[in-house]
Amino acid sequence: MQSGSSCKSTLPSQLAELWDLRSDVTYLNHGSFGLTPKGVLASQAKLRAELASDPVDFLCRRYQPYLDDALARLAQFVGTSPANLVFVDNATTGMNAAAVSLPLEPGDEVIVGDHEYGAVARLWRQTAERQGAIVHTPRIRAPIESVDEVVAAILAPLGPRTRVLVVSHVTSATAVVFPLTTIVDEARRRNRANGDSPLWTVVDGPHALVPVPLAIDQLDVDFYTASCHKWLSAPIGSGFLYVNPRVQSRVRPAVTSWGTMPADKAVNWQGEFHWPGTRDPSAWLSVPAAIDLIEAVGLERFRRETHELARYARERMIDRLGAEPLTPDSPDWYGSMVAVILPEPGPSAPPTEQATRRARAWQDALWEQAGIEVPLNVWGGRTLLRVSCHLYNRSDQIDLLVATLARVLKSG
Ligand SMILES: Cc1ncc(COP(=O)(O)O)c(C=O)c1O
Repeated sequence: MQSGSSCKSTLPSQLAELWDLRSDVTYLNHGSFGLTPKGVLASQAKLRAELASDPVDFLCRRYQPYLDDALARLAQFVGTSPANLVFVDNATTGMNAAAVSLPLEPGDEVIVGDHEYGAVARLWRQTAERQGAIVHTPRIRAPIESVDEVVAAILAPLGPRTRVLVVSHVTSATAVVFPLTTIVDEARRRNRANGDSPLWTVVDGPHALVPVPLAIDQLDVDFYTASCHKWLSAPIGSGFLYVNPRVQSRVRPAVTSWGTMPADKAVNWQGEFHWPGTRDPSAWLSVPAAIDLIEAVGLERFRRETHELARYARERMIDRLGAEPLTPDSPDWYGSMVAVILPEPGPSAPPTEQATRRARAWQDALWEQAGIEVPLNVWGGRTLLRVSCHLYNRSDQIDLLVATLARVLKSG
């Protein structure tokens, strides 16, 4: 069986039919946890049945050829060679592998800007602390106005002791498409011009995979990790880590196992990742099914339609709620997901802890009153609403969100 082949079916006229959606839920949070389409789940179920019917045959004989196929498909999709890629369970696991692989000396410095994902910032703070290194968290002013301002802010702490630059391709709470190529190229240029020790660039990319064109080999980065269970809609538990050939020899996963499977094969950097002890690999092997589906829809169509809906959401939230945008209105700055700053009902913003409790209460009210799944986060002292738009979302769902939120905000 070619993993994922079952998904190349004809598309329904309503793309929402590809999913088994709950009729009582308006799901506007694909960015946190993607919904997996029925066809992709069927592909995974088939693999699981095969695994269950004879785990030895599956894991010891069939797993590697399936894995090779799946990796080749993913590599083509993200624009690199399969030799530079491994499957991981999620972006968190990929980021942890980068963190355990890069040796830091006391006094070395790491840059993790203030738009970076909370768990990523926490990981690098702990990693640095253990080794006596220092984390810089530059503040990138929002609303953002220009590429130059973002690049200047992120690279402000760059100096001779900077060893690691951690940067999102698309940020999490703020949903901003960062000018990744410019940031990375400028960081490298300054690092080389000053003759500093090597700088590792680590990209956190879960929200870029699908919404933003991606050709990893065209980026001069050391690591790029993403979760396939977000926008690609592969099953939960599928992600990847790209490692540039120049650093592959020093890379290892956070979990040590046999180094390869079967265990008598020569250990290689990919084998270290692909046998992290006994586990169900069906989510990884179903990634090609998810790619087939999104390619059948068409990447350009996906980007155009989901961005149009995100743009509609942004306009409505600004017009009806008095929300403030975080970026200029352009697909260069936001794609299928958009965040806005909600207006403060009171004279001033409450302290973060109180604002976080309030954001949670508003989020719960949206769920309880109208079955809406959408995240509200407190970031930089402000309360942000983030709306994810996938192929099953519609403008009337945005209208429902805006009308319900207006009522919730009014009632405090
Ligand atoms: C920017 C960013 N990085 C990393 C992650 C972690 O993804 P996962 O939970 O799939 O590991 C998230 C999750 O929302 C994210 O938004």
